[in-house]
Amino acid sequence: MNTLSKFHKPSVALTRVGFGAWQLANPLWGEVDEAEAVRLVRSAIDKGVNFFDTAPGYAGGASERIIGKAIGSDRGSIAISTKFGHNPDGTSDWHVTAIEPSLRGSMERLGTDYLDVLLLHNPPTEILAGHTNHFEELAHLKKTGLIRAYGVSIDTKEELATILKRDDVDVVELLFNVFFQAPRDLFEEVKAKHIFLVCKVPLDSGWLTGKYDGQSVFTGIRSRWSRADVERRGALVRELKTILGKEDTSLDALAFLLSYDAVSCVIPGIKTNRQMNDNLASLHHPLSIDTRKKLEAFYDRAIKNDPLPW
Ligand SMILES: NC(=O)c1ccc[n+]([C@@H]2O[C@H](COP(=O)([O-])OP(=O)(O)OC[C@H]3O[C@@H](n4cnc5c(N)ncnc54)[C@H](OP(=O)(O)O)[C@@H]3O)[C@@H](O)[C@H]2O)c1
Repeated sequence: MNTLSKFHKPSVALTRVGFGAWQLANPLWGEVDEAEAVRLVRSAIDKGVNFFDTAPGYAGGASERIIGKAIGSDRGSIAISTKFGHNPDGTSDWHVTAIEPSLRGSMERLGTDYLDVLLLHNPPTEILAGHTNHFEELAHLKKTGLIRAYGVSIDTKEELATILKRDDVDVVELLFNVFFQAPRDLFEEVKAKHIFLVCKVPLDSGWLTGKYDGQSVFTGIRSRWSRADVERRGALVRELKTILGKEDTSLDALAFLLSYDAVSCVIPGIKTNRQMNDNLASLHHPLSIDTRKKLEAFYDRAIKNDPLPW
């Protein structure tokens, strides 16, 4: 469902292309310039982007601080989603008693007295499955007004199936893109539960733009891929370009996600104004049913039985 009415002023229409803020001033993603990052977020707000995804652990807390600096007087018209589980100092703390202090740290860095969304940031299985009282604590924080909605950030179809057993989750942030389509089987259930579904990594960390190939060399967070991973992704990108009949595949990659009515929002990680403008253009670039079918068939044939590593 493309509505945040559960946890946001119903009068504020949220853009389906939001802002992935992991990259902001983050050495894991390349050059670091905080002032430039503040200008980028400001420019996004001025263009009408109003859903921001961040986390305490992104750039040691800098991502949240930068968003806080850029908001100015616009707090009431934007939604901020942050997370719990991974701290600014790089440690993780999953104790239920750590949720509220973590949330208060986020609010301080963001300069706000409430959060629109708080997500468990890739929680361990027993928390996800509800064997602890984390969701009760989140429900309590929602009642107090410190947060307006809560949910989880997860990676797999199996995790999505686990969370769909619950009735209280407002938001699910899910790894879903042309190369990671397994969870689409569960989209009818996502809709039936009125979950606000956010697609993270919508461009497969940059691959689905079409600008990288099997010879590309990566540093930082993307150095996780082996040479074989890079070569396989390079070959898949070649196939994708042939299917789409174009070299720049980013618009279609985002439009593919937006073509599912279960998807409320995509949050590409953005490093420049140009990338933001290009990504926003996907709002006016509907994908034909025929192309969507081809991209689903491509996944089923080339990836489904041998999934890629993240
Ligand atoms: N566990 C979690 O909760 C989790 C995990 C991952 C991500 N996330 C969230 O999801 C967001 C998106 O995921 P992601 O950033 O990992 O992956 P992504 O959005 O798939 O890829 C982002 C990268 O693609 C490139 N790019 C973006 N738009 C482009 C354009 N129009 N043209 C060319 N290149 C473009 C940029 O890098 P280059 O220019 O360097 O290629 C950018 O860093 C993150 O910012 C974060 O908020 C959450």
